[in-house]
Amino acid sequence: MLRVPVHELHPGMVLARGIPFPRDPRRWLLKRDGEITADLVSRLKQLGIEEVWIRHPALEFLDDAIDDELEDHRRDLYARVRETFVRFATGSPCDLDFDRFETSIRDLFIVLNDHDRSHVLLSKLDAHDNYLLSHSANVCYLAMLLGMKTSGYISSTGLARCGSAEVTDLQHLALGCLLHDVGKMRVPLKILNKPGRLTEEEMEVVRRHPRDGYQMLKGQIPEPAADIVLNHHQRFNGQGYPSRIDAVTGEPSAPLAGEEIPIFSRIATIVDVYDAATSRRVYSRAKPPVQVLYEMRTWCEGFFDPVLEQAFYEIIPPLPIGQVVRLSDGSEAVVIDFDPRHPAQPRVQQLSYPGGESLDQHVGEEIDLAQCDGLHVHEIDGQDVRAFLASQQGELAGAGV
Ligand SMILES: [Fe+2]
Ligand SMILES: [Fe+2]
Repeated sequence: MLRVPVHELHPGMVLARGIPFPRDPRRWLLKRDGEITADLVSRLKQLGIEEVWIRHPALEFLDDAIDDELEDHRRDLYARVRETFVRFATGSPCDLDFDRFETSIRDLFIVLNDHDRSHVLLSKLDAHDNYLLSHSANVCYLAMLLGMKTSGYISSTGLARCGSAEVTDLQHLALGCLLHDVGKMRVPLKILNKPGRLTEEEMEVVRRHPRDGYQMLKGQIPEPAADIVLNHHQRFNGQGYPSRIDAVTGEPSAPLAGEEIPIFSRIATIVDVYDAATSRRVYSRAKPPVQVLYEMRTWCEGFFDPVLEQAFYEIIPPLPIGQVVRLSDGSEAVVIDFDPRHPAQPRVQQLSYPGGESLDQHVGEEIDLAQCDGLHVHEIDGQDVRAFLASQQGELAGAGV
């Protein structure tokens, strides 16, 4: 199977994975093995779905890379976030049944623990009609992965900086991340969905959402989870928000910095920035992971805890499995593996000859780009990604992963 952008779909192609219904992801808009029609393509565009998984007879082995049970749990969690946000919009947070939330989160943890987590990054919940909801579910999922990775990272490398007690209760991390942007429900939609730059006054309104969310949830959820809601926009270099409020004078002072920021909030900050940039917004297209990871390393320098940031780069492939790429010899190929030691040089399988002539239903040579000096990834979906990849070339080699 291949990831195919919706604008490149043709009638007759067959879905390798079902497409969840945007308003209720526990139901299917179209099930696996459904055939693509011209009407469906227009519908997918209308719904803002950016890419789907399509069958390719010679790449059936990639089907095993996505776990159906895991996907079911993620859709269930998304549905629960939707219910919760609807109830926030209409009733009191005291009505919320957080125990059921925690059951869903625990179930997802169990599935994640039972699986090879290198394979769980293959899909993103982006086929939904509400950015805030899909973003909340994605941030939760990515934070769980990074939290689990970080626990292992800490114990396997002996880094003592993040105390083990701090990372034991990852359920609080997941819950806080699910609800991290709940305060945005108090931001007027005309500001949230405004195309173009916000004015300073509008930015001030948006910047209230961590404190508003914290007030909405304080006492309703465990404090480590509520703390994520308050501090997910803090920056490691101290340039985030909200500011501290002096307990005596009530005056604002400097925001938190470095390890003053609780570790769960430092995790949330990283995955929040990543998911926001890789998501389609009212005012912008989704950027590919390779571009976002590059921008995080360059534009966001100093924002993140460097230890957690490094761990994040080890779990997020710039070129996801199933991604079709154009190589430097002009051939098309599909990414079939992710090796964190060589994130920019994955193993690929050719789909066309170097001149660009299609191999049809056959697949050409399997190539490990890390072992192949003269051959590189040049393009994704017509976009030149060489500059992005240059910053990620072999950066993790020797990092002991
Ligand atoms: Fe936020
Ligand atoms: Fe967010």
